[in-house]
Amino acid sequence: MTDQIHAPYVEGASDDISTNESGNTPFHVVVERALSRRGFLGGSAALAASSALVGSVGAMVFAKNAEAASLGTLTFESLPHRYDDTHHVANGYDAEMLIRWGDAVVKGAPAFDPTKQSAAAQALQFGYNNDFVGYTPLPYGSGNPARGLLCVTHEYVDRELMFPNAADRDKKTQSKEMVDVEMAAHGFSVIEIARDAKGKWSVVADSAYNRRGHVGTEMKISGPAAGHDRMKTSQDATGTKVLGTLNNCAGSVTPWGTVLMAEENFNNYFSGDITKTKEARAYKRLGIAGDVGYGWYRFHDRFDVEKEPNEANRFGWMVEVDPYDPAAVPVKRTALGRFKHEGAHALVDKSGHVVCYAGDDQQFDYVYKFVSKAKYDAKDRKANFAILDEGTLFVARFNDDKTLDWLPLTFGEGPLTPANDFHSQADVLIETRRAADLLGATPMDRPEDVEPNLVTGVVYAVMTNNTKRKKDQVNAVNPRATNEHGHIVEMIPPGGRGADKDHTATKYGWDLFLLGGDPSKPEQGAKYHPAVGAGDWLSCPDNVAVDGKGRLWIATDGAPKAGMADGVWAADTEGDGRALVKLFFSTPRGAELCGPSFNVDDTAYFAAIQHPADEKGSTYDKPSTRWPDFKPDMPPRPSVMVITKQGGGAIG
Ligand code: FEO
Ligand code: CA
Ligand code: CA
Repeated sequence: MTDQIHAPYVEGASDDISTNESGNTPFHVVVERALSRRGFLGGSAALAASSALVGSVGAMVFAKNAEAASLGTLTFESLPHRYDDTHHVANGYDAEMLIRWGDAVVKGAPAFDPTKQSAAAQALQFGYNNDFVGYTPLPYGSGNPARGLLCVTHEYVDRELMFPNAADRDKKTQSKEMVDVEMAAHGFSVIEIARDAKGKWSVVADSAYNRRGHVGTEMKISGPAAGHDRMKTSQDATGTKVLGTLNNCAGSVTPWGTVLMAEENFNNYFSGDITKTKEARAYKRLGIAGDVGYGWYRFHDRFDVEKEPNEANRFGWMVEVDPYDPAAVPVKRTALGRFKHEGAHALVDKSGHVVCYAGDDQQFDYVYKFVSKAKYDAKDRKANFAILDEGTLFVARFNDDKTLDWLPLTFGEGPLTPANDFHSQADVLIETRRAADLLGATPMDRPEDVEPNLVTGVVYAVMTNNTKRKKDQVNAVNPRATNEHGHIVEMIPPGGRGADKDHTATKYGWDLFLLGGDPSKPEQGAKYHPAVGAGDWLSCPDNVAVDGKGRLWIATDGAPKAGMADGVWAADTEGDGRALVKLFFSTPRGAELCGPSFNVDDTAYFAAIQHPADEKGSTYDKPSTRWPDFKPDMPPRPSVMVITKQGGGAIG
């Protein structure tokens, strides 16, 4: 979901406005205290100090001398910042098209014709606005780097760029057929992909694994909130079955080879007066406000809260899908909490418990983790299928002394009692944000991906930006007011360096990995490796991937506001190249780079190019770029590309 320069229908408004009125300022850090800590920036005085630091290395920054180029482990040369019609990849690499919006997924899919769209066709074709991309090898457990399943989410639609007819671009006048096309264009795709002897990747047409999930796909609800009265609707008296998934943003592949997909800005789909429902308090906290970006409620009553007051409670969850079984029913795992899920990343801790990290993508919202009750079973894959249904959900409080407390969201503990209108664990999960408010969690600068680095054991929590943070709201972990460029936080479990850390612990350390922005403008307070120059920096980090060497690949969403295309930057996380970011790939204009991920041996890198040409005034008839086809009768198309090293070998 773009954070945008331009949000034609929906996303900008509610995406950006905080609904957190808790006033949580658990450690109200004063500047002097921030300054007293090593390497931290906070407030104007700290900013001045950091400026001096950046200035003192200025000569080296701009010279980009040979010594700097040799630092770290990344061998490619950083691309220059750009903003133009097409994509660019670092010298020595090839970026090839893998699949575009409208391309065939399921057997029988008709050829894409943007002038004759139908819901039936779209339900068999690749959906709109690809976001998360995850590779699972075929067969399961083989570690095959050359044949696998690619699981891709379709987050939302850009109506203005999608439909040829002006009436269909207006949610108030569009036809039911086009509403149904939109619903079929959401959700997810699973495609089988393979690399041939020449190293070329392609989609395996008509593979039995290929499937589409969308807003009409039946799904199960499991975990503590399943079956609760607040989950019941006129269509589902059991509170355990729901049609579809909404606004699927980032995700991950689990250790047992399923895929987790987030439901992010689901609030945009529900219309009606929330004060006429019993859920008004909960809906307000989630930004359900009656003024929505989609016209689905005009034809489908369940998206009108006045007609179906509980339907929205059935969205905002993490969804688990088994890509190896095309008939598998996707499951919403309520134990992982309900908020604007950016994504979730599960790992098997050394104790055997599964730990799953997640972020709530809104200004002033929170970072979470879940610890399973059961232990992972490495011998029986299916024994792990319900492991995310039972356990403890925690929310993060970042203390200004660089410690982090994980606070349990457990019914009956602390303030999570009937006195605060929580009557069960289901209530706590349905209103996860309000429960976290009461516990005193730390409001963050829009948490996006929260991803563990399995090489070092450090967990990377990406804050994309928060322009609403005021000077008196800065703290050590969110050290800048009007944070336009975002930053990346390291969460450090106890234990030695490496995979033997204790991810079940309730006390961690934390540090800042980088602060986005232009290091040649000291007033921005950017922080990287000192050799990052005026042409290398990044803005608005969003999704990240970690490669086999523990390096971080950082995709951005919002860099155009800083005068450059979004793209992916890579950096070492340790050693003399730590936080030395280099631009590896940049997107066509108007696009965001989503879901970067690798195949199992880092010889292929999958990049989702979302919402190309999403700019002010850009429409189907007159788009700002016709990437990737560049044909006069073809609109811009969100697409997934595969990047490989020329001559083969691991990327980076
Ligand atoms: Fe859908 Fe938080 O990006
Ligand atoms: Ca984003
Ligand atoms: Ca994102």
